[in-house]
Amino acid sequence: MTTVLVLNGPNLSRLGSREPEIYGSETLSDIEKGLRERLPDGVALDFRQSDDEATLMGWLHEAADATTPVIFNPAAFTHYSYALRDACQIVADAGVAIIEVHLSNPHARETFRHTSVISGAVSGVIAGFGAQSYHLALTRILTLLERN
Ligand code: DQA
Repeated sequence: MTTVLVLNGPNLSRLGSREPEIYGSETLSDIEKGLRERLPDGVALDFRQSDDEATLMGWLHEAADATTPVIFNPAAFTHYSYALRDACQIVADAGVAIIEVHLSNPHARETFRHTSVISGAVSGVIAGFGAQSYHLALTRILTLLERN
């Protein structure tokens, strides 16, 4: 069994009611369910959310050690967490795919969202497509795993 780890940062537990005009009406559980529905046999999903930077860092270290591919929405940490960027670099340096995703397109929003300190340390970035950003990232990881 191969596992894909999906990590969600701060405030993403509030999806559904949080700024629906930007993030839509789907909850984080809806996104998880949608991803689970399309998993091929032999691929498991480990879907997590935390508002805490250190917890996210610990999960990234786990992924590096276990060589588990990661889909990561760092939420607001995207814009300023050098610590999470370094943790993403640890994952990438372990030869593990890590894809940054965003529901919204941060480049079309406030200026402070135009910078991602994470992007330079990950395999790729997908933003602006709502829950489909996660699906596109999963498609890429399944391609890398030769499971699509
Ligand atoms: C987000 C974009 C970030 O700027 C914001 O802080 C979030 C969500 C997105 O998925 O669009 O919390 O990562």
